[in-house]
Amino acid sequence: MILVTGGAGFIGSHTCVELLNSGYDTVVLDNLCNSHIKSLERVERITGKKPVFIKADVRDREVLDRVFSTYDIECVIHFAGLKAVGESVAKPMEYFDNNLNSSLVLCDVMKKHGVKALVFSSSATVYSGDNEMPLYETSRTGNCTNPYGWTKYMSEQIFKALCTADPDMSVVLLRYFNPIGAHESGLIGEDPQGIPNNLLPYVAQTAVGRRERVTVHGNDYPTPDGTGVRDYIHVVDLARAHLCAVSYAVSHKGCDVFNIGTGRGSSVLDVIKAFSRACGKDVPYVIGPRRPGDLATVYADCTKAKEVLGFETKYDLEKMCIDAWNWQKNNPNGFAD
Ligand code: NAD
Ligand code: UFG
Repeated sequence: MILVTGGAGFIGSHTCVELLNSGYDTVVLDNLCNSHIKSLERVERITGKKPVFIKADVRDREVLDRVFSTYDIECVIHFAGLKAVGESVAKPMEYFDNNLNSSLVLCDVMKKHGVKALVFSSSATVYSGDNEMPLYETSRTGNCTNPYGWTKYMSEQIFKALCTADPDMSVVLLRYFNPIGAHESGLIGEDPQGIPNNLLPYVAQTAVGRRERVTVHGNDYPTPDGTGVRDYIHVVDLARAHLCAVSYAVSHKGCDVFNIGTGRGSSVLDVIKAFSRACGKDVPYVIGPRRPGDLATVYADCTKAKEVLGFETKYDLEKMCIDAWNWQKNNPNGFAD
């Protein structure tokens, strides 16, 4: 049995599909603070299997204790956390409390129950902004520009220290780049609350008519077309990376870290053009000023994940946009429809 914290969310729900399709039983623990229970009903529709669901906060030690007593947990995938960069600047204590205390309580209860394998959702945001591209797992980390980034950086430190203290412990830190796209069924996908901060949901909501136009945050960067370049990865590829990580975590000891991206960069205009092709109409955009804190170019070297985890991506930007559009057009208002 795999415990999936935050399993009702964007990446968690797609990972549940891959886990269930691969024969794993799953328990999802999520407080639904940024997700909808419908996502798990859809997971059941896709897979024909029902994940066990517990509505609770990961920081609730008693509930967690009961979960580990009730189910034979082999490995935990810890997705639960708050993730909005701007909100973390406005509400830092909420972010430190949620993201750090959930990791601490989880580790403590795992220790009590002798569960030794964990996969953690880290982020490319832990890399310092002054690195050369591509980013390697050994590139400089720290100098985070916001509290969200620090929570990922600090969580990584907590897990590393835990593995040093307990040589039987196994933690796989996955540093995600930019997950986008949706399951190709169009039944699950990204459903941000309010005005999206991230590029792809903004483009998708513009294409479906919920927003007037996309603002491109700057076209004077030192990139081929002047707009920001990122390493977008299809969420289903990312979900599959978790299968590799779980296999690795249960068969190795110690703490290891992997970049999970495609190793290819795409600009904001590349994304808008690919999405326009996917939806069959031009997505309107205007050029605006740079967004404070943004880097010109961020992409991963993914050699380590390929060589050590045996993980490779399958899908390109066209497919990411086709699947994101399929989700958006079938669910213009997300799970609220
Ligand atoms: P998401 O918000 O869709 O999913 C997170 C889930 O965790 C939500 O269902 C939310 O309700 C739940 N949750 C939050 N705090 C909780 C708590 N204390 N107890 C129980 N449940 C709680 O986000 P996502 O995009 O699926 O991201 C999953 C993880 O990956 C997060 O840790 C995020 O920081 C990390 N990550 C995401 C991205 C990205 O671009 N989406 C990039 C890098 C890392
Ligand atoms: N962008 C626009 N217009 C928008 C939104 C974004 O032009 O409306 C641009 C950004 O300037 C950037 C690119 O699109 O060049 C991607 O921006 P996102 O906000 O989608 O993604 P980021 O790379 O800025 O941030 C993401 C996650 C963070 C994480 C970071 C680390 O949202 O949580 O990756 O790699 F910390």
